[in-house]
Amino acid sequence: MTSYPKTAALMRRGAEFLGTEYAILCGAMSWVSERNLVAAISNAGGFGVIACGAMTPELLDAEIAGTKTLTAKPFGVNLITMHPDLFELIEVCAKHGVGHVALAGGIPPKGSVEAIKAFGSKVIVFAPTLALAKKLLRSGADALVVEGMEAGGHIGPVSTSVLAQEFLPALRDEHLVFVAGGIGRGEAIAGYLEMGAAGVQLGTRFACATESIAHPEFKKAFFRANARDAVTSVQVDPRLPVIPVRALRNKGTELFTAKQREVAQRLDEGGIEMAEAQLQIERYWAGALRRAAIDGDVEHGSLMAGQSVGMVTREEPVAEIMASLLAECEGALTRR
Ligand SMILES: Cc1cc2nc3c(=O)[nH]c(=O)nc-3n(C[C@H](O)[C@H](O)[C@H](O)COP(=O)(O)O)c2cc1C
Repeated sequence: MTSYPKTAALMRRGAEFLGTEYAILCGAMSWVSERNLVAAISNAGGFGVIACGAMTPELLDAEIAGTKTLTAKPFGVNLITMHPDLFELIEVCAKHGVGHVALAGGIPPKGSVEAIKAFGSKVIVFAPTLALAKKLLRSGADALVVEGMEAGGHIGPVSTSVLAQEFLPALRDEHLVFVAGGIGRGEAIAGYLEMGAAGVQLGTRFACATESIAHPEFKKAFFRANARDAVTSVQVDPRLPVIPVRALRNKGTELFTAKQREVAQRLDEGGIEMAEAQLQIERYWAGALRRAAIDGDVEHGSLMAGQSVGMVTREEPVAEIMASLLAECEGALTRR
């Protein structure tokens, strides 16, 4: 990383941890973060992460093997903690010697962190509060991602800038913290690195790269959109707590509201239990994202996107996006 010496110096800890040239992760994006995008990110010196999502162990096995045929560089796997086959998925990662496993979607269930560490892999966790972050780091997690509500996909209620101020001063000396949410340019990366971040994680900025298999219509919707088009979903029923999702406004956003009403009504009628109701809501998202990202139904599917979508204006190869981010970061650090 000779041409970005200031960036390299600030990214050193994160890059060493990831085994990469740059401490830039492309966060797992369901359906989009498959072998092609993941390998392209890692080949460009960043850290690609396979989104396991609702994949079966067999599918994950094939995806990891496929990614390995496209890159010899390190990449990770993102597992959703509520997946019913979580421990089988961990075994698949063990079989392939995956170096880093990210556990997303909730507090890691008992034994999962230990099972990952048992085969020598590093564990990356997400935490919405500082107290939980400290607890997870104490119980064996190797690194943390803090993700603000500017991000695309499922989000919490707090912005990246506030989370960074809360988490980084408290954790930066002893722990590795990667900052995610709303990062579209390298100047922002420079800011978080200076605050003590080990590195950053981006999703939206990479989702429409040339190497991404996202449908051309999905990409076009991103190129057309402004920051204000990436809105959060609305919760309809207080009994059905819905984790907010940030996506581009379309008919799909309205359909989601209708789906919640339908599920709430079935709850009223006693047709389904609460757990099943929540599962139906979650499944709805996975299906809706596939509909938009893979099938190209950008009217009715879910166009998950972060507020940085306004900075995504055309299709570019991952290596070019990476070079822009690094040059912007280095420029900002040089001007300081
Ligand atoms: C289309 C899309 C799908 C996503 N799917 C997932 C997912 O399956 N699991 C996950 O942990 N994060 C998911 N995310 C979040 C990303 O991993 C990443 O943290 C986020 O995009 C970073 O914020 P940014 O979008 O502002 O760059 C998704 C984001 C997008 C845009």
